[in-house]
Amino acid sequence: MSTLAPEAVAPHVRGRFGKPYAWEPECESTQLLLLGSGLPEGAVAATDHQTAGRGRLGRVWEAPPGSSVLLSVMLHPPAGRHWPELALLGGIAAAEAVEGMTGLSAQVKWPNDVMVDRRKVAGVIAEARNATAVLGIGINVTQAREELPVGTSTEVASMRTITGRAYDVATLAGSLLYRLERLYDTWRHGGLRDVYAELGSRIFLFGRRVAVDGRPGTAAAIGHDGRLEVHLDGGGTLHVESGEVAVVR
Ligand code: BTN
Repeated sequence: MSTLAPEAVAPHVRGRFGKPYAWEPECESTQLLLLGSGLPEGAVAATDHQTAGRGRLGRVWEAPPGSSVLLSVMLHPPAGRHWPELALLGGIAAAEAVEGMTGLSAQVKWPNDVMVDRRKVAGVIAEARNATAVLGIGINVTQAREELPVGTSTEVASMRTITGRAYDVATLAGSLLYRLERLYDTWRHGGLRDVYAELGSRIFLFGRRVAVDGRPGTAAAIGHDGRLEVHLDGGGTLHVESGEVAVVR
């Protein structure tokens, strides 16, 4: 088991993100430690175990103690920025960090999953409260196959089940925070358009057969407004703002 305890993570914190660092060995959800907390931008809440980890669309996020990166970052996006886009930034940062450690290419499955080898290794959730946003990121790092959730709509993996190697969660968290800070600063000034180059090459759904609310089509792109463009069979284009897009095999 590795840990996200402050003494393990501090040597890997290179920028503003991670200061201050709110640490609980166990908590319900790192999101709850930050939402409405009034902490400054860049504050991070981290834990080695969540008892009620929050996933998107009301789902739970489960991971055995010490197996994962489990953290949330406090952000104060400027007025005029569309805060749900932060989930895409979190996905790009997590993909880059996973790629940096494993050497395998990682993609972003709109809106918030990180995929390696067609399996989900990380998830991102963005929640807003009082003009602040809390971006939560979970990365499956050292779980064995039997410790991963089953029966999910997308097959789930850990970095270990994919490569057979163990990784240090603190090193990964430092890399994630650094990459996220860089992307966030770019987005803050120029919006999604300015981070698009880093997203464009990572779009997992690009060209894939999908269904949106049961309507079949082909995913074409993620627009500069963060919406997923789907060309429907039989004509017409959907610009999907949020929700679930099923990949049709
Ligand atoms: C999803 O894929 O549905 C998003 C999962 C996000 C999970 C992370 S783990 C750290 C942070 N705290 C939470 O309660 N959720 C996020």
